Amino acid sequence: MSNVNASIETDASRAPWVDEVWDKIIGKVERMSQSIGADFPYISYNGKYKSEEADWWTNGFWPGLMWLVYRENKVEELKDTAAQIEALMDPVLTDYYPLHHDVGFMWSLSSVAQYKLLGGEVSKRRAMTAASHLVGRYNARGQFIRAWNQPERVGWAIIDCMMNLPLLYWASEESGDPRFKHVAALHADTTLREFLRPDGSSHHIVCFDPETGERQEALGGQGYSPDSAWSRGTAWALYGMALSARYTGDQRYINAAKRAAHFFLANVPEDGLPPWDFRAPWEEGMAMDSSASACAASGMLELSLLVPKSESELYRSAAEKLIFKLNEKYTAWDDPNEEAILRMGTANRPKQAHVNNPMIYGDYFFAEAVCKLRGVHDTFW
Ligand code: GLY
Repeated sequence: MSNVNASIETDASRAPWVDEVWDKIIGKVERMSQSIGADFPYISYNGKYKSEEADWWTNGFWPGLMWLVYRENKVEELKDTAAQIEALMDPVLTDYYPLHHDVGFMWSLSSVAQYKLLGGEVSKRRAMTAASHLVGRYNARGQFIRAWNQPERVGWAIIDCMMNLPLLYWASEESGDPRFKHVAALHADTTLREFLRPDGSSHHIVCFDPETGERQEALGGQGYSPDSAWSRGTAWALYGMALSARYTGDQRYINAAKRAAHFFLANVPEDGLPPWDFRAPWEEGMAMDSSASACAASGMLELSLLVPKSESELYRSAAEKLIFKLNEKYTAWDDPNEEAILRMGTANRPKQAHVNNPMIYGDYFFAEAVCKLRGVHDTFW
């Protein structure tokens, strides 16, 4: 557990713009905490974040964003608001039915974050409860973690789940019980085999027979088609594989993260803003997804710590360039009436849901990547 009172060691060799952006993030998050408070912001419309129900998968990102800032500026109000949100999610944790595989997103960035920074039995118990639920979703025949709850989706797994695995690795480290990490690694192995393509792109959904574990088919899901390349899915694969590599040291996960990183970099436009799917036909008013770039950048910064020194700079500088470009064109610093940090995210293009809007996880990954560019690499994942 790190000590919140210890001073944060930043890397003095960083570019000056990185500190300027970080200062803007601090100011913005302090203002957001006034206007949003203890709530579940998801997508911003006309400058205001709209909130979701307590079980929504993105509910960890707002407390996570406040913890990133609190870690450095120690503003008590941020801590208190983040802690209140964690408590507001308790009914979800005890109700069972609303829980899904995204307990990792939800409780890594809230309870694990608070626990890593401040300790506390209540946060630890919440995160262990969430990890126990996630392990309970494991299908031993197919060696995958079930994503969603609808009866017809009992055999479905999705690429996003790679970001839920750190909760399991953390639970093994905390409890001394290796079962959590065994399940995480088996799911990561299935993802390597069944989701990731040789070119570094990924399926969104793969369906298995829940009785036999046999692979049935891949689905397009939030991507354009089963064989397309949903850009946020590539980012989930990249960052998720890097995180599994960090916890296990498995070179296969590092190689997979590298493949995903190279695919992302080969396809992202020069201004750092990817289309929602790298293989979707271009159209007027194309749906773009800044959250994919922010997440990919943070993932590349994680990867830069896992590869030999000779390769590290490649991933660090690629991430820096992405964040520089996003900051230059797609941040909302110039608009005092916009609550969000990052514009132009797309939640779900096939459903036409929230296209080219700011999204709370875009804000989170952008801020997390900026922290890493400053040399602060400890993460809540
Ligand atoms: N995890 C859901 C999404 O990426 O939209």
